[in-house]
Amino acid sequence: MLKGKKIVLGITGSIAAYKACYLIRGLVKQGAEVQVVITPAGKEFITLLTLSTLTGKPVISDFFDRRDGSWHSHVNLGLWADVMIIAPATASTMAKMANGIADNMLITTYLSMRAPVFIVPAMDVDMYMHPSTQNNIEKLRSYGNHILEAKEGELASHLVGKGRMEEPENIILAIDEFLDGNRDLEGQKILITAGPTYERIDPVRFIGNFSSGKMGLAIADECARRGADVTLIAGPVSLQTVHSNIRRIDVESADEMFHAVKEIFDEMNAAVLCAAVADFKPKQILSNKIKREKGELSIKLDPTDDIAAYLGKVKREDQKVVGFALETNNEEANAVGKLKRKNFDFIVLNSLQDAGSGFRYDTNKISIIDRSGCSDFELKPKTEVAKDIIDRLVELLAKRKLKE
Ligand code: CTP
Repeated sequence: MLKGKKIVLGITGSIAAYKACYLIRGLVKQGAEVQVVITPAGKEFITLLTLSTLTGKPVISDFFDRRDGSWHSHVNLGLWADVMIIAPATASTMAKMANGIADNMLITTYLSMRAPVFIVPAMDVDMYMHPSTQNNIEKLRSYGNHILEAKEGELASHLVGKGRMEEPENIILAIDEFLDGNRDLEGQKILITAGPTYERIDPVRFIGNFSSGKMGLAIADECARRGADVTLIAGPVSLQTVHSNIRRIDVESADEMFHAVKEIFDEMNAAVLCAAVADFKPKQILSNKIKREKGELSIKLDPTDDIAAYLGKVKREDQKVVGFALETNNEEANAVGKLKRKNFDFIVLNSLQDAGSGFRYDTNKISIIDRSGCSDFELKPKTEVAKDIIDRLVELLAKRKLKE
């Protein structure tokens, strides 16, 4: 979506200014045209030569060029741009933006901007958490600006906390999605379970399964891309989530997953249950490693809670629950049984009999079954499968809105 887009990139005086170089590289690689406007403090952190080389354009920092008096029109920049990004945005620049103090070229350009503005703060944790900074961020958000919140982590000061600038690739992703325009899950809160669960036997062993979490994470990314507020409850998976709209809660066992789900389901509009939850857990978790002894070993198992059945029972009329069924035989009949038993709004069936489907593959072949029938889909990458599933969920949520 960034191809041919005109972007004004505002850079201010933060050490994270070096990340603006990666941001420019990424934007230019995608075909965007970037014009940098930098504050006087920003110039202390990064050279104009670096920026103009990366963008292929002279950097604008003053209202006019002192050598020949030529005027840099903030008004023209405001009309030229398709998007404005301010990254990094310091506490001071945000305070001025929130109050209309137009004492440099960047802020006059911001005040003249007709295009959407993305603000990406970066500063030390105490400055970021200070009520005045937080109030300014809220004020800027209320004016319709998009804020890509600072992230937790180690800061340049070596303090640890919130204040790190969002990574350039995530900024590009957010802008790309915004331009894509498909924000049909805006305002919806979606819960997603993903991955396997591990049920401990002793300090070194567990009962688990081969779920990789790929399908669940693809669904989480798709929902977030379409504007949803996503809470991902993930069993032990090694995959990373990138989207800033995804709140991730990592759990290990079926019990932990159940508790995490119960705690937040009430505030959700929908739940998509991709996790391969263990059906049984050892009756007892031994505190010492089981030793190899002659003869057989039996481990007594208790059933785990069925999270899906619980949600199917407690869900309100306005909440939708989507289930998954991974089957090896009698696929459709088993899936229809689960749809009814667990009171899902629809169920996604995949069969281990289909080549390229199921655990660990990057592709999947699904059928979507609801009370009115079954639709079959082709074998596709899991990211495409996620789109098909979420399209169906969006239809359901839209029907609910119509009823209201
Ligand atoms: N599920 C769940 N909690 C469980 C077991 C399953 O939430 N304890 C959910 C899965 O995430 C999936 C659906 O229920 O969305 C079906 O899972 P599956 O394991 O196929 O169903 P089971 O009821 O365990 O049936 P089976 O006898 O085939 O294992």
